[in-house]
Amino acid sequence: MSNLEQTLSIIKPDAVERNLEVEIKEMFKNKGFQILKEKKIQIEKSEAEKFYKVHETKPFYNDLCDYLSSGPIVVMILQKENAVKENRELMGATNPKDADDGTIRKKYGISIDKNSVHGSDSAYNAQIEIQFFFND
Ligand code: CMP
Repeated sequence: MSNLEQTLSIIKPDAVERNLEVEIKEMFKNKGFQILKEKKIQIEKSEAEKFYKVHETKPFYNDLCDYLSSGPIVVMILQKENAVKENRELMGATNPKDADDGTIRKKYGISIDKNSVHGSDSAYNAQIEIQFFFND
């Protein structure tokens, strides 16, 4: 059965800073993702806190929010069959040290914090995250 989905992807500050935007987008396109919408923005820490609210009790929450708001990011709506799962596979493990060959985080990630990309973890959260950045 067809399951065309959308998911939210973020190219994080470490990757934008290293001018990896074009290469990372090519990796998405080569895997058959369509980029439906995209924008380059810099967010306030208060917005990062809202975006990562599910992590608010975690010890890394404050650093995570400082980091996501530390420089420009590229936010994108990606579309593909089973986009949420396919995007998570293409990104690789959260910690680049554990990521498989051929994944974005293996290729470009620096550390668990500077792991180059974010992707929604479920179809439900994808809708929430898409609304967060593209609420028009
Ligand atoms: P992301 O997919 O954007 O979701 C939350 C982020 O928290 C995650 O990627 C990591 O960059 C960051 N993070 C930092 N420390 C941890 C940790 N111990 N476990 C999970 N995520 C972490």
